Amino acid sequence: MKKKILFVCLGNICRSPAAEGVMLRLLKEKNFEAEFEIDSAGILSYHAGELPDSRMRAHAARRGYSLVHRSRQVRTEDFYDFDLIIGMDDRNMDDLHDRAPSPEEWTKVHRMTDYCIKFQTDHVPDPYYSGSEGFEYVLDILEDACSGLFTSLTQDS
Ligand code: 4NP
Repeated sequence: MKKKILFVCLGNICRSPAAEGVMLRLLKEKNFEAEFEIDSAGILSYHAGELPDSRMRAHAARRGYSLVHRSRQVRTEDFYDFDLIIGMDDRNMDDLHDRAPSPEEWTKVHRMTDYCIKFQTDHVPDPYYSGSEGFEYVLDILEDACSGLFTSLTQDS
């Protein structure tokens, strides 16, 4: 059975599609692609159908990531379909808590920065209104957190 992971942020055009791209490449490098299914979604439906923000795509491309996800909103079924649902900040965690259909499904919800190894921060900041350094910082945190997530998922299996 594939392990299914859903990354969630507010708009699903910056942080969570970048997390998806970073995790997919890491799994490919480690030869673990076949064992995981990775997706991302947003709390808002505002950007549904859109590619990731052009700034996020440009910064990711410089590190070799191709972000091709199309934005979609979180659905109730996601709480049943996925094994892990990972939010980026306090607001995402609160919104996911409100949407979780039961306490059992809420146990699947985790915070991205809890997997960080090098960075000591409790959230991945929304880069939408930031300059290019905000996008680079998001990618730095996501690379660290995806590495920690991969270790946590593979060391006890
Ligand atoms: P994201 O960034 O949550 O990392 O995708 C945002 C993108 C768009 C908006 C907010 C955050 N927005 O309000 O449109």
